Amino acid sequence: MGYRYLSISRDGPIERVVLNRPEVRNAFNEHVISELTHWANACSKAPVGARPRVVVLSGAGPMFSAGADVAWMAKQIEYSEEENVRDAAEASQMFQALDALPVPLVGRIHGAALGGGCGLAAVCDIVVADENAIFGFTEVKLGILPAVISPFALAKIGRSAARELFLTGARFSAVRAKEIGLIHAVVPFAELDDAVDRFTSELLSAGPEAIGAAKALIAEVWGQPISSAAPLTARAIAARRVSQEGQDGLRAFLEKRKPGWLGTKSDTTEDAVGTPGRGGQNRKKQTP
Ligand code: COA
Repeated sequence: MGYRYLSISRDGPIERVVLNRPEVRNAFNEHVISELTHWANACSKAPVGARPRVVVLSGAGPMFSAGADVAWMAKQIEYSEEENVRDAAEASQMFQALDALPVPLVGRIHGAALGGGCGLAAVCDIVVADENAIFGFTEVKLGILPAVISPFALAKIGRSAARELFLTGARFSAVRAKEIGLIHAVVPFAELDDAVDRFTSELLSAGPEAIGAAKALIAEVWGQPISSAAPLTARAIAARRVSQEGQDGLRAFLEKRKPGWLGTKSDTTEDAVGTPGRGGQNRKKQTP
């Protein structure tokens, strides 16, 4: 599928997905939703060897994303209730597909992330923002609701922050976004790409299957009582210990060598982001 509103590029193990509708501040309508969902599903279904190991999501133009397209939503007054529900379900599928990606999703936020833009931040595993970026669950200011994004946003920021921010619709700073757990790092705009590279380097230095398993673990364990989480966690670690990658990683530590996933030139952190050794695996001692 050719994309009109997304720019996709591959840089070794890193895939960069850029929302590309800057004239409306990367607001998403049904076409953007369809393209992002298609891309996320294709990424999830790709064979492990063909998948990127890290995806960076960003926005073209002056800001990351102004959320759902207000003009598109206003048009929905002409839709039947059923059509409205279908459109909202499609938006939900987009967030679910991004949330469930088997590879880490790193958000690069500059300018603003509003409404559904905050929803996109919520489904990113790691988010780095420019210190001047503004955030907001602004839907109530438009008389609507942060409904579709609420499961993802609540999981990230919790009920207390949601009570304030969903109800007021107030805009808030990157520092506040970090305090509530929506994002993970705040840096000057000029340092945004370096900060993203630092996180991608960390991710590339870890076992790719282990990262996928860690992501699945978080989704499965979250909200479970310990009685059902415990057997699940025991099975999860047992599977990793006996896996080829797990065995390689454990033995590499004992043998003071690089694990296999760092061994081939085309697949190393150094090649990906030009930062030799930043991943930290090529050293005598590691802390597992
Ligand atoms: N949906 C559709 N169009 C949007 C949009 C949105 N969410 N956000 C911005 N746009 C459009 C504007 O209508 C404007 O279009 P125009 O050039 O035809 O007038 C264009 O994008 C630029 O917006 P503008 O407000 O002039 O730019 P800005 O850089 O000064 O401010 C924002 C950008 C995002 C801060 C501001 O537009 C805004 O607050 N948008 C609403 C965001 C929001 O509440 N989103 C939640 C939706 S549920």
